[in-house]
Amino acid sequence: MKVTENVSLRQYNTFNLDATARYFAAFHSREALEAILDDPQYKHTPKLILGGGSNILLTKDFDGLVLKNEIKGIHTISEDDDHVYVRAGAGENWHQFVMHCIEKGYAGLENLSLIPGNVGASPMQNIGAYGVEIKDTFNELEALHLQDRTLVSFNKEACAFGYRESVFKHQYKDQFAILQVIYRLNKKPVFNTSYGAIEQELERMGVKEPSIRSISRAVINIRSSKLPNPAEIGNAGSFFKNPEVTKEKYEELKLAFPEVVAYPLPGGHYKLAAGWLIEQCGWKGYRNGDAGVHARQALVLVNYGHAKGEDIVELSWQVVESVKEKFGVALEREVNII
Ligand code: FAD
Ligand code: EPU
Repeated sequence: MKVTENVSLRQYNTFNLDATARYFAAFHSREALEAILDDPQYKHTPKLILGGGSNILLTKDFDGLVLKNEIKGIHTISEDDDHVYVRAGAGENWHQFVMHCIEKGYAGLENLSLIPGNVGASPMQNIGAYGVEIKDTFNELEALHLQDRTLVSFNKEACAFGYRESVFKHQYKDQFAILQVIYRLNKKPVFNTSYGAIEQELERMGVKEPSIRSISRAVINIRSSKLPNPAEIGNAGSFFKNPEVTKEKYEELKLAFPEVVAYPLPGGHYKLAAGWLIEQCGWKGYRNGDAGVHARQALVLVNYGHAKGEDIVELSWQVVESVKEKFGVALEREVNII
């Protein structure tokens, strides 16, 4: 496997930020990854496993080895009356994988159409959109421990999924390379169209009987209308999570701000729309140099061209402070800071 030195990561992150990796290599198989991990030259070098770079914020040069996961392959491995089990290499593009499943008539991923990035990060982030999270169809993954080289299988429980959370962001942070993921998809679709604008969009499209294909199309249309395309404006999707508050805090906010956008959660808590909180603080469409807050979605911070990672971080702190001051709510970052 070829290792190159002093590689610009600009083309490898959707924020379009420039930072240099001391060493960079792409691997297409577990064996290739193991070969490089066995090389004594890199034994003590910090390592970063990279997918599509759509949820990272590079704040400085990476003085280590960036390993881009390019493991490909999509295979249906087993099925029963109701389900089909599909294994995908971590380096497969997420949206192409979703499209593959839709072509085959396998249901469960249609609401997750058009999310950037690769298969390998999907369980790490527990990606979610339009009322569905990856944990709903996740079955198992295989990962290689970067230090001791053991190959470990994680079932759903072992991944400890939460809202944009998993064990790989905490207890096992930076310890594993996820190599492949197995999803359990439905042969008999259960449509989830209750979220937000999906039903409206299906109606606009003239769809009477939803299908996984039409739901996917509706989601693609909605997403394209409000989220910036990273090929045009650098971004990493939602920069912050939607914060969870107690019922008491929600009621206090509702009294002071009757328009507050919130969703009740099963345990009695409420999830607040961070985009609304940020917009109310006057940030929507804000720009300072090349760092800004997107004009159609205030939850998305953007790089208009030559912003630096620190500029985006600085702006994010200003947003956090103003939301804290106005609403007494702490925003938490969703993006992985490198
Ligand atoms: P990367 O950015 O490459 O990596 C993210 C983190 O995962 C890093 O810490 C990296 O080290 C680690 N990692 C990646 N691959 C592996 C691996 N194989 N093994 C171990 N660790 C790994 N997310 C949502 O959940 N819902 C959305 O609706 C959504 N919309 C978005 C819209 C836009 C326009 C953009 C730019 C992003 C959006 N995102 C969304 C965020 C992003 O697409 C997801 O988090 C995605 O899963 C990141 O995948 P990636 O391959 O690009 O990960
Ligand atoms: N809103 C505003 N102003 C804004 C943005 C949003 O008032 O500028 C309010 C509106 O009332 C809107 C509501 O917030 O109806 C929700 O907005 P939207 O439907 O755009 O979704 P979101 O809560 O901002 C979340 C996810 C997205 C995911 C969408 C759709 C998080 C952090 N973000 O965004 O995920 O695509 O729902 O399900 O949970 C990501 O993780 O990167 C991401 C883009």
